[in-house]
Amino acid sequence: MRKNVIAANWKMNKVLSEANQFADAVVNKVPADEHVEAVVCAPFPFLPALVEKTKGSPIKIGAQNMHYEESGAFTGEVSPVMLKDLGVTHVVIGHSERRAYFAETDEMVNKKTHAAFNHNLLPVICVGETLEQREANETMNHIETQVQKALKGLSNAQTASVIIAYEPIWAIGTGKTASSEDANEVCTHIRNVMKKITSEEVAEKVVIQYGGSVKPANVDELLAQSDIDGALVGGASLEPDSFLKLVEAGTK
Ligand code: 13P
Repeated sequence: MRKNVIAANWKMNKVLSEANQFADAVVNKVPADEHVEAVVCAPFPFLPALVEKTKGSPIKIGAQNMHYEESGAFTGEVSPVMLKDLGVTHVVIGHSERRAYFAETDEMVNKKTHAAFNHNLLPVICVGETLEQREANETMNHIETQVQKALKGLSNAQTASVIIAYEPIWAIGTGKTASSEDANEVCTHIRNVMKKITSEEVAEKVVIQYGGSVKPANVDELLAQSDIDGALVGGASLEPDSFLKLVEAGTK
């Protein structure tokens, strides 16, 4: 039985005092529940405080990006070693905003995924199509390519523990959610691609999230789908009440 992973992606929002207020508001309210895992992926400057404040709670803290090298002359970058040292457990890799604005390629996503595993961080790998690709019926091929390239060279055990976030780019921050059936169709496709790469047994273990305008009002329907095992949430994850409702939905 797969867990629902409800992950907040705060993107470039909040200041430290607001991050602390959020942690104070949710820390005793996220249930320790075998069906759900709650993760908060925050900007780098907030990570030490969030790790500290959520210690002993079921909340996990994630980063939104990292470099694939351990250290070196990479001005402005943050390494997996640094994240691990802080107590971070998850890292978002290949978000469409990083691919679009910071030129991240499938090859970089693959290197970062390997780096995450080499340092015992769990990668949340984002894939998704543009509106043009959807309209040209290229969604399934595009997603297959992204998944295959991201996972290249991983062991079966590593593949079984990745989290894949399917985020159609046209649904991010637009208020347009993919219908739960359309979202599930792509998530099922992702699982089938994983079956091809590895095995049925491995593919059945992989957590596949949906992301794109998820909110308390639509999360139940999305999580009820056969191949959707959680959500990666931007806007609706910023307020404690809304985040707690999303986590609560994941317990069912
Ligand atoms: P929104 O939930 O704001 O649409 O953002 C989705 C997203 O990009 C999460 O990574």
